[in-house]
Amino acid sequence: MKVCRRETFNSAHRLFREEWSDEKNKEIFGKCSHPNYHGHNYVLEVWVDGPIDPMTGFVIDLKILKQIIHEHVLERFDHRNLNLDCPEFKELIPTTENVAAVIWNILRSKLDDKFSLEVQVQETEKNKVLYTGN
Ligand code: NI
Repeated sequence: MKVCRRETFNSAHRLFREEWSDEKNKEIFGKCSHPNYHGHNYVLEVWVDGPIDPMTGFVIDLKILKQIIHEHVLERFDHRNLNLDCPEFKELIPTTENVAAVIWNILRSKLDDKFSLEVQVQETEKNKVLYTGN
């Protein structure tokens, strides 16, 4: 049985490699490479897979999952510049893929091993990624 908590956060980023020219960065990363950063309204879906607890009827108490996401993900990334404010992205390009993997790793460490975890991050109406741990 899988349950999901959906959250949203707003962050700024810039996709670029320092060792590449502006032209090459623009060619690879397009608008997301604009030098002065830009924001996205990210939609995060955290899916937790596990058995239904016969005592509560829940897989996981979604209030608790909400608290974990707020404390460990939104506090870090919401209304931040991912490149400048977040040490996780000092050496890691903040693509949607990497944002999802970073969030998955954070949440994995906070959840009981009996649960499987999937993290979906939507960067725009048209683009989203799903990370399941590999
Ligand atoms: Ni972008």
